[in-house]
Amino acid sequence: MDKIIIEGGRSLKGEVKISGAKNAALPILVSSLLTQGWNTYTNVPNLRDIQSTILLLSNLGVKTEVDKNTVRIDAGGLFNHEASYDLVRKMRASVLVLGPLLARLKKARVSLPGGCAIGARPINLHLRGLARLGASIELKHGYVEAKADRLKGNEIYFNMATVTGTENLMMAAVMAEGTTILKNAAREPEVVALADVLNLMGARIKGAGTSTIVIKGVSELYPVSVKIISDRIEAGTFMVAAALTKGDVMLLNAVPEHLEAVIHKLRLAGAMIDIDGQRIRVVGAEKISSIDVKTLPYPGFPTDMQAQFMVLMSVANGLSMISETIFENRFIHVSELRRMGANIKVTGDTALVTGIPMLSGAPVMATDLRASASLILAGLVARGTTEVNRVYHLDRGYEAIEKKFSGLGAAIKRVKV
Ligand code: EPU
Repeated sequence: MDKIIIEGGRSLKGEVKISGAKNAALPILVSSLLTQGWNTYTNVPNLRDIQSTILLLSNLGVKTEVDKNTVRIDAGGLFNHEASYDLVRKMRASVLVLGPLLARLKKARVSLPGGCAIGARPINLHLRGLARLGASIELKHGYVEAKADRLKGNEIYFNMATVTGTENLMMAAVMAEGTTILKNAAREPEVVALADVLNLMGARIKGAGTSTIVIKGVSELYPVSVKIISDRIEAGTFMVAAALTKGDVMLLNAVPEHLEAVIHKLRLAGAMIDIDGQRIRVVGAEKISSIDVKTLPYPGFPTDMQAQFMVLMSVANGLSMISETIFENRFIHVSELRRMGANIKVTGDTALVTGIPMLSGAPVMATDLRASASLILAGLVARGTTEVNRVYHLDRGYEAIEKKFSGLGAAIKRVKV
């Protein structure tokens, strides 16, 4: 497994181009299952999770072609309705095939994902929603077995706003008979991006981006050519890196409207942020101010940025309170950050971070994507050498992360082990 080695202490300067969004690309690639003929997707990030999705789709009998950041998919030959344990265990988002498989093949057999490092992450709301559309759902031998001769529109209330749950239900409902209303739906930009693509295919979805989404079923959908939206979490990670290293970084191809909560918090922490269309310039302050952060569903502060902010607060001036309300175990980076000298105390869903002048480099590892990203950030600002192990997790969600950081002047390299 590769590792990343960083000599900390350099101020980041220059321009960095933000890649396409992983969490938008995953459901959008899967939505190709609803059509017959070639779909073309550009600005697809080259990531391990995207490769897993393409493998998953190929196993279902779908034709796929990949050329750098362009992916083409023709689901005309779709015949298999099963996503195996091996595929789902590598990537939980594989459960997104449930909705479209039910819509196209009237049946789906998908391995039930287990918990992961950040929480139990059940899919009960996905399943309850599909049952409301008339699917029969059984759990057998670790698999979800779903069947429906004809899905029928219905009203579905989510107890909790769920991103992939909302996406799964939208994909199941687009070709259902009649109207489906999703209430307390997730409002994340990735949900809107999927709804836009489905509408381009011929679906009739209104209200994506609000908590009530209305879907009028249609009988057929058609292939599309679309560009994947920019990754707001990758952008946020580079913004924190600029603030943390007292740098001056210009993000290109970013979507500032998707980053309002992050921009607001970074400004409170002292960073100077200028926005010009899709360009965001972040200039770090000499002294980072402590601020409190609470993760919330969009448009609140994203849980996927919590670990990165914790690093920023580790070297801020004063005491900061970070509350994680989305996932029950998303402080796995804390023990590694402590090994780098950070002063962090955790009680329940809250971490109290007392800023210190300097972190110190150390060998570290994490078992989650965003936690791993936070360790890279910590390494960039720490005194001495940091060795981030299990880079596997980073490769799931950050395209060429070490190349992008070295382009900004960081002393960072990947070592093949
Ligand atoms: N939940 C349930 N039951 C369900 C579904 C969700 O109880 O059936 C709970 C979850 O356990 C969690 C909360 O609802 O406590 C919200 O989870 P959500 O379903 O929104 O998360 P997700 O769809 O599994 C997506 C992203 C995550 C991101 C979360 C929250 C994708 C592929 N994944 O996960 O991204 O953290 O939304 O914004 O879109 C990442 O990229 O590193 C990542 C983990």
